[in-house]
Amino acid sequence: MSVVNLTMSPLRKRNCFLVLIGIVFVPFCFFVLLSVPDMSSEDALVQRIAELQVRIQYLDSMYRSRQEDLQQLSQHFDQSFNADNTSNLPHLQDMKQFLKNISGLHVSSGLNPGVSLKFPTAYQFLPHLLDDPTSLRLSYLLSKNRDGVSLVLGIPTVKREKYNYLMDTLQSLIDGLTDEEIDDSLIVIFIAEIELEYIVKVASEVEKKFAAQLESGLIEIIAPSPGYYPNFEKLPLTLGDSPERVKWRSKQNLDYVFLMSYCQTKGTFYVQLEDDIMAKPAYMTTMKKFALEKTSKKEPWIILDFCQLGFIGKMFRSAELPWLIQFFQMFFNDKPVDWLLDYLITTKVCNWEKRDNCKTDKAKVWIHYKPSLFQHIGEHSSLKGKVQKLKDKQFGKVALYFPHKNPEAEITSGIKHYKQYSLKRAYLGETFFWGLLPQPGDQLVFKFASPIVIKKFLFRSGNAEHPTDKFYNTTVEVQPKNSFYQNSNVVNITQDGFIVIGKFDSAGVASGSPDENIGKVNVLRLNVHSESDNWAILSEIHIQDKLSRR
Ligand SMILES: *[C@@H]1O[C@H](CO)[C@@H](O)[C@H](O)[C@H]1NC(C)=O
Ligand SMILES: *[C@@H]1O[C@H](CO)[C@@H](O)[C@H](O)[C@H]1NC(C)=O
Ligand SMILES: *[C@@H]1O[C@H](CO)[C@@H](O)[C@H](O)[C@H]1NC(C)=O
Ligand SMILES: *[C@@H]1O[C@H](CO)[C@@H](O)[C@H](O)[C@H]1NC(C)=O
Repeated sequence: MSVVNLTMSPLRKRNCFLVLIGIVFVPFCFFVLLSVPDMSSEDALVQRIAELQVRIQYLDSMYRSRQEDLQQLSQHFDQSFNADNTSNLPHLQDMKQFLKNISGLHVSSGLNPGVSLKFPTAYQFLPHLLDDPTSLRLSYLLSKNRDGVSLVLGIPTVKREKYNYLMDTLQSLIDGLTDEEIDDSLIVIFIAEIELEYIVKVASEVEKKFAAQLESGLIEIIAPSPGYYPNFEKLPLTLGDSPERVKWRSKQNLDYVFLMSYCQTKGTFYVQLEDDIMAKPAYMTTMKKFALEKTSKKEPWIILDFCQLGFIGKMFRSAELPWLIQFFQMFFNDKPVDWLLDYLITTKVCNWEKRDNCKTDKAKVWIHYKPSLFQHIGEHSSLKGKVQKLKDKQFGKVALYFPHKNPEAEITSGIKHYKQYSLKRAYLGETFFWGLLPQPGDQLVFKFASPIVIKKFLFRSGNAEHPTDKFYNTTVEVQPKNSFYQNSNVVNITQDGFIVIGKFDSAGVASGSPDENIGKVNVLRLNVHSESDNWAILSEIHIQDKLSRR
């Protein structure tokens, strides 16, 4: 075993590493520059160089954590091999003798004592982690081990009393990615709960809806060990807050710490999100472009902020996450996480003697992008009873409905509509339908001007601003023109002779292609079977006639 290598000076190790980066990256750099066809424009070149710069920062931080391990190991060797054996070091022997000669005292015995300084670790701030040997182990991990991507999106999710928006959030995030971005990103869902049954339930919901994304490695799911959390009932109450609130915000800090620590090594940039948000189309392209622009202009940013609310849509360099992680660990019980972020930046950049400039100083490194790319959709905060009506005014308008050209029909609705949001206008693609509290037996009826063969149908309920306003337990039924079909026993037929061709699923969508044998139909209707606690929105109606081209 070569002790010499382990004790190589850190500076040399670092230089070796940089040479390595040089060897690997410079040719790679040329390769990238030559192989991309539209590289002629100077902008693209500048952007590519910025991309490589941040990538090197990321690799450097990865290297640093390896270096830490090495440091510990070499200290260990140092102590066990050298501590008490000064005959290994002839210079030291001379020095000792010399000191003895000139001082005649015990001064020389203080040399090379074999004692090292020990820094406090996270365990000082989170001592409960020492109570359980598995405290830092994951209790759940569904992963394809994707790493080295450009952008990692971290989504903490917790059990909510009412509706859980996670699926809507994921759909919106995935819809906003190009094919290329899908291969170059990672979405980490952190289920911040300890009940294994709940964790598995959420994971299987995700799998049901996003099997392909899990399979490709775009989505990962993780959950903490129960030992990761302290006894929340015993936390000191701070800031004069209620126990409930102290618990909620302390846990949120620890959740962010967990998620950021997990994600830190996975990609160049990290973006903090929540489980009740929606994203603008092409949000990823916009974020990456903005980040690389700042980097290539050498603007020393710490946070790029793509949403004005709380901690949503904040982008960091992964290499800088350790700052946040340690800060949140130290004060997890003292302040909410978004305040801590503010304090961290204030501490880093504000001059206490020129306090008036603090705001401007902070704005230089905490850069807000407008308009916002993320909007809060949740109205029920995970803090019980706290209704979260905060919306980001910078987000602007999003599509609340998707218009289509539908076959001519006479429309009647058993559900009373709100304001101008009538079913007729929704059918014509002028707005969405918004109905008050559906009741069992309520029907939305589309009677076609002349009987049609339906090739495909799609009804989407709920919309971006009101994701819970869906149709629940509602079937799609048609009345065939030819009654002989009703005698067939292969289909579900209602008492009044309608054939059931579909049903709204848990995502609030009913779609399909009816059996060809049904032939022409006179009427299509939506039939509500259960009472609903919510109003109901139809944000997309599309009935495709066999004859029509679209
Ligand atoms: C100290 O080092 C010398 C030379 O490397 C070796 O001969 C000796 O056994 C060592 N003594 C102890 C106590 O390790
Ligand atoms: C220390 O003193 C002794 C005796 O006086 C002498 O032989 C020796 O060279 C001195 N050593 C050093 C390092 O000064
Ligand atoms: C008939 O309805 C039941 C209950 O909704 C369903 O399980 C079954 O698949 C349906 N059959 C057909 C042929 O659609
Ligand atoms: C749907 O409604 C029917 C009729 O009221 C009821 O029997 C059934 O349990 C409901 N299904 C769900 C999933 O709520």
